Parts: sequence; structure tokens; C-alpha cells
Amino acid sequence: MSPADMIARFGSPLYVYDEALLRDRCRRLINALPSHALLYAMKANSNAALLEVIRGEGLGIDAVSIGEVMLARKVGFAADRISYNGNNVTDNEMRAVLDLGVGVTVDSLSQLERYGRLFPGTDVGVRLNPDVGDGHHDHVITGGPDAKFGIDHEDMEGAHSIAKHHGLTICGLQQHIGSGILDVNTFIGAMEAMLTVADRFPELRFVDFGGGFGIGYQPDEDDFDVAAFGVQANPLLERFRAKEPDVTFRFEPGRWVVAPCGTLYVTVTSIKRGKRHTFVGTDSGFNHLLRPALYGSWHTIENVSRPDAPVEPVSVVGNVCESGDLFCRDRALPTPEEGDVLAIRDAGAYGWSMASCYNLRPRPAEVMLSPDGPRIIRERESTEDLTR
Ligand code: LLP
Repeated sequence: MSPADMIARFGSPLYVYDEALLRDRCRRLINALPSHALLYAMKANSNAALLEVIRGEGLGIDAVSIGEVMLARKVGFAADRISYNGNNVTDNEMRAVLDLGVGVTVDSLSQLERYGRLFPGTDVGVRLNPDVGDGHHDHVITGGPDAKFGIDHEDMEGAHSIAKHHGLTICGLQQHIGSGILDVNTFIGAMEAMLTVADRFPELRFVDFGGGFGIGYQPDEDDFDVAAFGVQANPLLERFRAKEPDVTFRFEPGRWVVAPCGTLYVTVTSIKRGKRHTFVGTDSGFNHLLRPALYGSWHTIENVSRPDAPVEPVSVVGNVCESGDLFCRDRALPTPEEGDVLAIRDAGAYGWSMASCYNLRPRPAEVMLSPDGPRIIRERESTEDLTR
């Protein structure tokens, strides 16, 4: 079905996901890291239909909130296939997660102390601050002195003594250096540093290296090479496992799994030839895809209605009342006309999941493009929903 037909049937703007590609990416990950736990970071996209495909392909879940844990359980992920890495969470949230049979990883010494008082004699995971960070933007670098996450390496002795005091078993270590990593060696370096710390924890059952595998958003960028990564990571992990045979290794990729599977289709609603820029206005905006406005991220945009039109530099913008509401600035595109459909690519991760109803504009519908055709997997929000 062509994008124009899909929009005629399901409306605009519209998120569309490619199920075959999603399955293919799950399989490529499993092939690259066959003997490790691959826990999809559902914050990237938590649509239940995608989660069902991902579960069917054999991945588990990385969750960050009680809401995510509840949805993962509802979709049928077994409790022991879900990891939970909460950040600054309440007692009630930790209790609710444990009640669902899911283990908790804590993020600070004070939280470990609180966990110990509430649940003495139990198991707990601990998040490390890996000292080094990486990522596509400052906002998504989660390691190093400027990041709010995890316990510093030099404070890990403190974690030991808090655990001892409350009879806790530190059963897992977790870290996440950041998001959008393209260099395999950066990730391997962070893993090596973590394994050195793990040597000091004799009761570990898991070591979790986090997510962050990047994708090539720009035309000249390649995805994080998971096959090459597996070639380096697997022997490193086997060497550690030779000493500690009971340890399982975990990874938490989000973006890599889903980003290229999703496209946001928007419709052109106006063309304004201004003094400096040609503004192509659309029926969407940063309320539906925040990444360009928040991080200056590149998403490839195609004019699918008029691919052969003469090319000119245009700024594709939205209908939100802010000047920062843009998808691209002065980019060469086949000149759009009102009514054209534009495809904004690689929108499967952190697209709908970060969407809002800012300006009281409803969030888009989502469609899964399956081998037997497209089907709606989330209804469009309505203005009635927002004014109820
Ligand atoms: N594990 C932990 C503990 C995380 O904090 C994250 C992402 C992931 C796994 C998954 O990272 P991924 O594999 O998707 O890179 N909104 C931003 C990304 C924020 C990521 C936050 N944490 C964006 O649109 O680029």
C-alpha cells in the first residue's frame, strides 16, 4: 500500500512500522550475541504490538518504570526476562516491581540503603557509573562525572558494606554509558572496565552492559555493527564466564531494534517563501517527533508524493506555536506542494514514545505493516480525548 493510500485510510500524521524489518533486526542481534540476554529497552517504543513481535523473536525487556514493567507483563514477558533499572524511584514503585516478580537494580548508595531497610535479606542489582560516557548528544550521555546515574567505581566499597549491613546479596551489576554509540571499540572498552569491577563481586548472577547501540541516521553513517561487536564481545565474555560460570550477560538495546522500522508520514499544509528560508509547513511537529528540536537530530526526509520534483533547500516545520518546531533546516528536498506526503525516516525509536499533546493536538495513530497488509495498532488520539 502506498503512503498516500495509507494516509487516505488511516489519516495523517501517521506512524508506520515495518514488521518484517523488526523481526530481521531482532534476529541479527540474536545471531551476533547468541548466548546472552538481549533485553529490549522498551522506552524506545512501547507499543504493545511491537512488544509482541519482539517477545516472539525471543528478546526480553529492559524497563525503567512500574508502568513499563506492567505493560511488559501484560504482553506476556516472563518476570525473569524483565530487568528494571529505576532512577530516583519511590518505595512504592520498588515494592510494586518486586510484587510482580521482577528484580530491582538501584541507582545510588542512598537508594541501596533504603532498599536494604525495606527488603532486608533479599537480592538486588546495583548500577555503576562507568566513569566514561558516550552518545549522540550531551543529554543522552549517562556515564562520567556530569551524569546523574549510577554509583561511582570508587564508592563500590560503600555498596558492599550497605549490602552486608542489611543482609542483601548484590546479584547483578548494570551500567549504560549513553545512547547512539556507533563505535564498537568504545562499547568494548566500557565492558572491559565493568568486568574489572565485577571481579570484586563473587555473588553475581548477571552483568548488564546497558544499551546504546546507535544507528546511522545520516546518509553517510552506518549502524553500530552488531556482527563485528559480537566477534569482539563473545570471547571477552567467555573468558569471564570461565571464571564465573553462573553469570549471565545482559544487553539493553532499544533504538537499534526499532528506529529504522518506523516512519512518520506527515502532510504538507502550507508553503511559505520567506526572506531567508522556504518553510514547508506540515500537520505534525515536535509534539510528535521531538528528536530534531531537542537534540538537533537528523532524520532523513523524503517527498514520497513528488520524488522527482526539482530540488531546493527547504525547512520542514510543524504546526506547534514555537520557532524551534522543525524537522530540518534548509535541506535539499524535491520541492513539496500543499497536500504532498513527506516520510520522516528512522522514527521508530523515541518517536511516538516521546510524543505529547502539547498545544492540545492529538497524538498520531500507529500502523503495523505486516506481510498480510497494514493494521492499526494504536488509534489516533482525538480532540475529544484531550478535552474530556
Ligand atoms: N538502558 C538504559 C539504562 C538506558 O538509559 C537506555 C536509554 C537504554 C538502555 C536504551 O538506549 P538505546 O539502546 O535506545 O540507545 N531520547 C533519546 C534517547 C534516550 C535514551 C535514554 N536511555 C533519543 O531520542 O535519542
